[in-house]
Amino acid sequence: MNKHMPAEPVPFIDLAAQRRRLGKSIDEAVSRVIGHCQFINGPEVTQLEAALGAFSGAKHVVSCASGTDALLMVLMAKGVGRGDAVLCPSFTFCATGEAVALTGATPVFADVDEASFNMDAASLKRGIATAKRLGLKPVAVIPVDLFGQSADHDAIGAIAEAEGLFVLDDAAQAFGASYRGRRLGTFGLATATSFFPAKPLGCFGDGGAIFTDDAELAATLRSVRVHGQGSDKYDNVRLGLTGRLDTMQAAILIEKLKIFEDEIAARNRVAERYAQGLGNVVTVPRLSSGCTSVWAQYTIRLPKGRDRDGFAATLKAKGIPTAIYYPKSMHQQTAYRDFPVADGGLPASESLSGDVISLPMHAYLDGPTQDRVIQAVRTAVST
Ligand SMILES: Cc1ncc(COP(=O)(O)O)c(C=O)c1O
Repeated sequence: MNKHMPAEPVPFIDLAAQRRRLGKSIDEAVSRVIGHCQFINGPEVTQLEAALGAFSGAKHVVSCASGTDALLMVLMAKGVGRGDAVLCPSFTFCATGEAVALTGATPVFADVDEASFNMDAASLKRGIATAKRLGLKPVAVIPVDLFGQSADHDAIGAIAEAEGLFVLDDAAQAFGASYRGRRLGTFGLATATSFFPAKPLGCFGDGGAIFTDDAELAATLRSVRVHGQGSDKYDNVRLGLTGRLDTMQAAILIEKLKIFEDEIAARNRVAERYAQGLGNVVTVPRLSSGCTSVWAQYTIRLPKGRDRDGFAATLKAKGIPTAIYYPKSMHQQTAYRDFPVADGGLPASESLSGDVISLPMHAYLDGPTQDRVIQAVRTAVST
């Protein structure tokens, strides 16, 4: 490389590379929708739901307009509302707790495990006790499979069962990952995912889906998705949303799902190369026992005392973007700071918010480019 030329910027997520690989297939799929004009509830929506069911092993798949709607629709379908408490991890994207608060229920924040970034079972138990002490009725728990790795569904499921709570898995970042040999989408009462473009399986706009083995819940979700419609189109039987996935997005996702397994394998290779190249200079993410990840993010922790902003600036100067997920946990954010937190506080969430940073991660990150990232990180931490 000419030392006077600025280094070529590395994409954080390379959607263009995926588009090149898919060639004309998406353009043709979109053209078919434009041709048949069934932009809402077209045949591709049913086809996608069947394909997602086959992929995940879930009996029912209800596609919807976003990952946030996927969470909200399940809570609405279950009648969650004022006086109810729903336990959520604090170290997550805001939509997890936001969906709870939108129903009028109270999100009660639990801490996460520092190694997996996922909900800590002991803190969940404390959070349930906190909710009861505050006079709330704990009704549900939303574990999040953060950064692509499955949460500890056995431990969380056992607590939920003992306490009579239903589990709504927030797999917005982790569709395609598995836990003890089973794909996400098959744990708890229902699973929500997002097809936001930057997600491991993303569409060309907003989209989401709900997975469940419960036929009655699936039927209620299909009603909630269309303003709570009943068998008579003009007699709405419950409150609902305009919660449908556009046919165009379904057509795009059908094409992307065909290469998704292969992309997951590629993401795992990228993660492995990072772990080998960086494991002795920063804290790299590790898979918990029985868990796989689709590596929605590759999130490292800097050595104690290392200035994160300075680190990010050093990488940026070399054309390497980084992102911080999340600089504030939910209980530290303005809109959420008055909601309760589990007894004992949330020290792991607070400490992670202070020192995590995510590196470029996608299925098309080639070896030489990734080595550039690795070298830049190694240099930045040692200076
Ligand atoms: C953990 C988590 N939950 C929910 C969502 C919401 O998904 P959407 O943006 O599709 O509404 C996201 C999206 O980033 C997420 O990361």
